Amino acid sequence: MQKIAAGNWKMNGISTSLSEISLLAQRHSTSDVEILICPPVTLLGNACSLPGSVAIGAQNCHISRSGAYTGEISAQMIAELGAKYVIIGHSERRSNNGETDYIVQKKMMSAQQEGLTPIVCIGETLRQRQNSQTLSAIKTQLDGSLSSEAAKSPIVIAYEPVWAIGTGHVPSMSEIAQVHEFCRKQLKRRFGDLAVNIPLLYGGSVKGSNAAEIFALQNVNGALVGGASLKAEDFSQIILALEDA
Ligand code: 13P
Repeated sequence: MQKIAAGNWKMNGISTSLSEISLLAQRHSTSDVEILICPPVTLLGNACSLPGSVAIGAQNCHISRSGAYTGEISAQMIAELGAKYVIIGHSERRSNNGETDYIVQKKMMSAQQEGLTPIVCIGETLRQRQNSQTLSAIKTQLDGSLSSEAAKSPIVIAYEPVWAIGTGHVPSMSEIAQVHEFCRKQLKRRFGDLAVNIPLLYGGSVKGSNAAEIFALQNVNGALVGGASLKAEDFSQIILALEDA
């Protein structure tokens, strides 16, 4: 299984930030981990032109290839730049931009059609966790966000509990393990043998100090990291932990 350390810069970073990607490429030039940075779209083209093996991804794409959608960016445009991945259905987009599972599925299909690997994000809210609805919420999101053909092309799933994002609160290791095992089972039920090759990432307050114990869990194949991916120094600690896992 490919191990993936993915950094989601969200709405952070200007051109001087590109040096962080170059530093990562230098430090981890022989890594067996797929190192991925998803910068804001303004940096995407320049990031894709940097030398080194750090993969580049976008943070969102439109469901359509082209058309009258002012301000939007299509998967075709992202792929043309040389990006390999696109994050789809991040909880910030689900809550701030009204993205439903149906829209997420359409975006995921659009990404795969252009040869991009979608990183489909799922995760329960605090209320769902407190009401013991975590697994049912995850099941609904997985069922609704993935097309029936989803596993026939490369795809990545990121489990990001909404309440763990940017808060410093991380689920217990047994809670993470439970959701990842559940995701794997659901994917197998739906996609059969193809499901064993789908990397499952954990996201939500991952740092150098907690990465090793998270990566030691079964069915955790890497991380989707926000704040701790902005500086090469911090992200390197997480990459090192994944290299050792
Ligand atoms: P933090 O690592 O800052 O909690 O963000 C996680 C996230 O939302 C990555 O997509």
